Amino acid sequence: MCGIIGILGNSPAVPRLMESLRRLEYRGYDSAGVATLDDGILDRRRAPGKLSALDAALASEPLAGNSGIGHTRWATHGQPTVTNAHPHMTDTVAVVHNGIIENFKSLKAELTAKAVSFEGETDTEVVTRLITQYLAEGLSPRDAFQTTLGRLQGAFALCVLISGNDDLMFGAREGSPLVVGLGTGENYLGSDAMALASLSNRLIYLEEGDWVEVTRNEVKTFDRNNNPVKRAGTISQVAATMIDKGNHRHFMQKEIFEQPTVVAQVLGRYLDPNAGTINLPDMPFDLATVPKITLVACGTSFYAAQVARYWIEKIARVPVEVDIASEFRYRDPVYQDGGLAIFISQSGETMDTLAALRHAKDAGQHIAVIVNVTGSSMAREADLVMPIHAGPEIGVASTKAFTCQLAVLAAFSVALAKAKGQIDDDAVTAYVSELERTPKLMAQILAGDEEIAAIAAKISNARDILFVGRGIHFPIAMEGALKLKEISYIHAEGYAAGELKHGPIALIDENVPVIGIAPNDALAEKTVSNLQEIMARKGKVVLFSDDAAANHEGMLAHFTMPSGGDLITPILYALPVQLLSYHAAVEKGTDVDMPRNLAKSVTVE
Ligand code: AGP
Repeated sequence: MCGIIGILGNSPAVPRLMESLRRLEYRGYDSAGVATLDDGILDRRRAPGKLSALDAALASEPLAGNSGIGHTRWATHGQPTVTNAHPHMTDTVAVVHNGIIENFKSLKAELTAKAVSFEGETDTEVVTRLITQYLAEGLSPRDAFQTTLGRLQGAFALCVLISGNDDLMFGAREGSPLVVGLGTGENYLGSDAMALASLSNRLIYLEEGDWVEVTRNEVKTFDRNNNPVKRAGTISQVAATMIDKGNHRHFMQKEIFEQPTVVAQVLGRYLDPNAGTINLPDMPFDLATVPKITLVACGTSFYAAQVARYWIEKIARVPVEVDIASEFRYRDPVYQDGGLAIFISQSGETMDTLAALRHAKDAGQHIAVIVNVTGSSMAREADLVMPIHAGPEIGVASTKAFTCQLAVLAAFSVALAKAKGQIDDDAVTAYVSELERTPKLMAQILAGDEEIAAIAAKISNARDILFVGRGIHFPIAMEGALKLKEISYIHAEGYAAGELKHGPIALIDENVPVIGIAPNDALAEKTVSNLQEIMARKGKVVLFSDDAAANHEGMLAHFTMPSGGDLITPILYALPVQLLSYHAAVEKGTDVDMPRNLAKSVTVE
């Protein structure tokens, strides 16, 4: 996905555009660019790679003007080159875009037939050329923009400036988020609340199909049928100061160490330790009547869903189906009448998950979302929103959002079990007190950071690494493998420990470390014997376990974990694999917060 920002201000636009782009860089960082209007004249600077390259370009060739737009790119169409970097511009129009124009080829052919030339390979450029064409045909800026919108198919959040109109900016939202920021004698457009955090906390979230005509003193909003509409304003919870690394080296490190605090916060929203009860948000359906639950997500959020399946089926005895969002709707799933579909997403904007949500909604399922961004598209389209209150998560690798998702899912599972009559009040109270212990135990694990860093140093040169676990810790093994591969670029796979002997064990030799997730539970003995099979084949085993008595002889390393109850161990065991991956990436010298090829939230399919 990409990040876009637009400012109609009363001071030089470039410094503020760059500040907003720094807050958006986590959304994509293949290239970046800004354009400004100065005395009606459009000009731009663009650069490949991270924002530092654009900073350098602006230092050598500054841009004047109090109106401007900016863009940080995660490439979909066309290489991450300067030519393909946004803004796309003619002498009369500058455009930044997040999304995919699905009919860009036919539009490009139509314009090429009119002898319109293109400079790059992107889909976005057709927007610039279309508006330019309509202006040349004598349409007003509003009509040229509105007519262009009517020609586009696909997903787009747009910010547009038009030469000769220093106090005018257009924006549109279709499938990709766009937020209006309200200033005093200034107004702004941005991809999300974080982009606008340093400009305004007075926001208006546009709805699908909305477009806006913005001046410094007025924001006119129209729906997809060009009818004037009023959208509710909201006060952003994202303070400008929340987005910094503090005294940490990386956002990911900061967010790993925030987990005891934010998990305590989110538990405080869902648990009443005094009454020993769980308080879910009000919902427009009766949990007791839900016959089946479908959990859908991507990436790390998908592994949270997999953990939740074990909780829900074991405690609440409700059947659960879990699926990867990008696969879900294409297999034409069978829904059960009255079923509840829960979509888990840190950003609330992941297109695969949002599309799956819409599929389940169209099928009449009750829709719940577990999100970090409460103003997100998923939150606005759900019947029930369960926020995770993790605060902004900037590191592309999800950490605190994952453990906060698990905390909410654990609370939900217990509440569902109570609603279904599977457990009594005493059992709820026992689960609540177990959950209440989580933050303290997390802090205890984080205190072992240096020990885990030393283990990371032993494995960071491996070419292949396996993570193994059983039962509810199999998804934690998968999550550990994802963490490691996405930030260190080491090939890693997660397996059910019992599955190794059915093929993957052929990978094992002295060069393949195996990370064992083995809490001292009913499956620990089997997992440890799987690890012995690995060591018998010269595999290098690293064991994370709270079983101090486990035989560690011959292992590459072991880390003694604190003991939690069956409900909370998956939350606890997320931490060592996060730290292991973080330190391995630091050893490798990769860009921990903005790993290559990735973006924080993928708003394209
Ligand atoms: C996790 O570390 C990855 N960055 C990625 O798998 C992420 O979890 C996935 O893209 C889903 O994002 P979401 O939670 O915002 O929907």
